[in-house]
Amino acid sequence: VGAPVVLLSHRGPVSFERADGQRRAVRGTGGLVTALTGIAQNLGDAVWICGVSTEEDAAVAAEHQPEGVRVSLTAEPRLLAGGEADRPALTVRFVAVDPERHRQFYTEIANPLLWFVQHGLYPLASAPVITPQTWSAFEDGYVAVNERFAAVVADAVAGRDDPLVMLHDYHFYLVPELVRRRAPGATISHFVHIPWPEPDGWRVLPPGMRDRLLAGLLGADVVAFHTDRFARNFLYCAEDVLDAPVDWARRRLSWQGRQVAARAYPISVDAVGLTAAADAPAVHEHRAAIRAAHLGDGRQLIVRVDRTDPSKNVVRGFLAFGELLEEHPELQGRVTFLASLMPSRQDVAEYADYLAEIGAAATAVNARYSRRGWQPVDLRLQEDRSFALAAYAEADVLVVNAVNDGMNLVAKEAVLLSERDVVLLLSENAGAHEELAEPALTVHPYDVVQQAAAMYAALRMPAAERRRRRTAAAEIVRGGDVSRWLQRQLDDLAGLR
Ligand code: G6P
Repeated sequence: VGAPVVLLSHRGPVSFERADGQRRAVRGTGGLVTALTGIAQNLGDAVWICGVSTEEDAAVAAEHQPEGVRVSLTAEPRLLAGGEADRPALTVRFVAVDPERHRQFYTEIANPLLWFVQHGLYPLASAPVITPQTWSAFEDGYVAVNERFAAVVADAVAGRDDPLVMLHDYHFYLVPELVRRRAPGATISHFVHIPWPEPDGWRVLPPGMRDRLLAGLLGADVVAFHTDRFARNFLYCAEDVLDAPVDWARRRLSWQGRQVAARAYPISVDAVGLTAAADAPAVHEHRAAIRAAHLGDGRQLIVRVDRTDPSKNVVRGFLAFGELLEEHPELQGRVTFLASLMPSRQDVAEYADYLAEIGAAATAVNARYSRRGWQPVDLRLQEDRSFALAAYAEADVLVVNAVNDGMNLVAKEAVLLSERDVVLLLSENAGAHEELAEPALTVHPYDVVQQAAAMYAALRMPAAERRRRRTAAAEIVRGGDVSRWLQRQLDDLAGLR
């Protein structure tokens, strides 16, 4: 890398738990953390700053103030004892914030408000309603938490020559400007892993939020996205909302006498690590169980793997499946929809409601079409990585019908691990669609008739065409390997310095 790197993301690469009196390190989850962890060895002696997720994280943080803990990320993550060397290793600095401020920051502003605005999830006739409570959550929660994290980032870069600061995601839009003020010598990138809407979408936020958030982000040298579409939308928002002059050919704008670039770096997966993980005994056991329950005698399997996030569009996926069974009764008893869904953000009302809707939609399809020995939807609410890898391997069809999605790594993982030449149904609004449109079958997120037709086409597709598409998709994913994702960013940042 050359330069010292300081990373910031809300979730960290590792989290600690206590069971039977023992402290245990577990790998962080979520696409961002999975990707960054896979390339930790390229990051030299990086410092990774993140929030505490568990009580045990808070205990670890308190014991290792302020320098942070050394964590090895080789096979399973573990704490390194003082002086012990291992590669790859990172220094992790957990930041604990006041629980009430964190609640306002996370469950009122970051999720749902920013997440819903950026994924276009609000029914605008009725939501959002910006109340006094929202404003205090913004000031006392989001702004305060951003200031706290910015102070830790500034402290971590203090005394380092030409540091590189790589900030991540919608939790920290105010941090770039705050860090620039304290560390003018730093080169700062901010990676937004979720969609960026057009100005009309961004204007759902009132000026006192949208202008400040944008101006905060413009403290960075580079604002990065997974797709060129989101980078363009971002420039368009800065032009429309803040009157910033944009150089469209160079994809950059002028702000307070500096240039800010908006770039696309589509993230990918660690193909080698993933393939190795898919060969674990637990994955093979799940595969055997899935085959026994759902395959054989020419039966087929539709799969989805998601967090139970409204942006993932699980309910319309089940409606489309019901439509498929209605239109093609000969498929009843012959095809099952296996959904492995990880309950997510249940302390946010909108998310708790959506999980209930998912359950109701699955139950409705099962009530209507089940027959002896066959239940159309197999809904598993679980967080089980080995099961997900097994489901990818056994799927005939993978459904990614997201309303909007920054990238969607499930699509990329599944085409790599498929052993049955999976057909990918991919929403035109998923970031991955910019790369995988050709080998996938494109679906429209709101049209369940079209989604059902795509399911039918996928199930009936000749083997040779399935193979051709799956191989082409896997090639694209391998070609964009995640270590290149990081290297391209580092090269561009080095160019800026
Ligand atoms: C997305 C976001 C991440 C986030 C993850 C899990 O991938 O881009 O920043 O960490 O979802 O969400 P959670 O709220 O559980 O951290």
